Amino acid sequence: MQKFIEVLPDLQELVNRSLLIVREKIQAAIVERGLCTLALAGGSTPVPLYRALSSESFPWEKIHVFWGDERYVPPDHPDSNQKMAREVWLNQVKIPASNIHPMPTASVNPTVDAEKYSSELSEFFQVSKGEFPVFDLILLGMGDDGHTASLFPHTDALSVRDRLVTVGNKDGQPRLTFTVPLLNNSRCVIFMVAGENKQSALAQIFAPSGDETSYPARLIQPMGELWWLLDQSAGVIIS
Ligand code: 6PG
Repeated sequence: MQKFIEVLPDLQELVNRSLLIVREKIQAAIVERGLCTLALAGGSTPVPLYRALSSESFPWEKIHVFWGDERYVPPDHPDSNQKMAREVWLNQVKIPASNIHPMPTASVNPTVDAEKYSSELSEFFQVSKGEFPVFDLILLGMGDDGHTASLFPHTDALSVRDRLVTVGNKDGQPRLTFTVPLLNNSRCVIFMVAGENKQSALAQIFAPSGDETSYPARLIQPMGELWWLLDQSAGVIIS
C-alpha cells in the first residue's frame, strides 16, 4: 500500500485537488483496462466534487458507477446517496443508465438487498463466490465518530470478511455497505474529510496504534493507493 496525506487550505482547494486525482485515476483506468469502476461515498463532503465531475468530458460509456454504501431508503428519499449523486452529477452527463449500479433498497429485508448487490458485483466483475472484485477507485468520507462507508463503531459489519456487501447499522437504522475486505481490495481509495468536527477522530485514525472497532476508518488499508485529502480545519492536527 502507498499512503498519501495532503492538507489543503480549505474545502474548495480540497475539492480541486480531489478532482485532479479522480480525473487522473479514471483516465488511467480507461487507458490500462478499457473501463473505470468507481464506487461513490455518500454524505455532504463529496457533493461539490460530484458537481465538478458533471463538467468533465470523460468517455462516460467507459465508466461504471457503484456506491460504497447506501441508506436503506427508497431512491427518491432525501437521505438517498443515489439520489444525491444523480441530481448533482449523473443526470447531467451522458453516462448510459446501465453503467449506473445503485445499491438496491426495495426488498423489505436489507440482508436480501445486501446479498443482491454482492451477486451483482460478482457477476459484473466476473469473480466467483469468496473472491473480491478490484475496484479502480473508491471514494470514502469519514464521520466525526471515525466511521466510513456505513461501517460504524462497534457494529457487526466491521468483522464481516466473507462477503462483498453487508448490512451496516447506524443507531438502529439499517444501511448497506461494502465490507472491509472489499474496500481493501481496491486499486485506490480516496478519503475526503473536511471540518473541525473531524479533528479528534482523525487524530485517532492517524495515531500509531488504536482501537479499530472504535475508529473503523483505521481498518481501511487498501492493497493499492490510500489517499487522505483533508481541509485545514480537519487536518490541522496532522499538518
Ligand atoms: C454516508 C456516507 C458516510 C459519510 C460520512 C461523512 O452514507 O453518509 O457514506 O460514510 O461519508 O458520514 O459524511 P459527511 O461528508 O457528510 O461529513
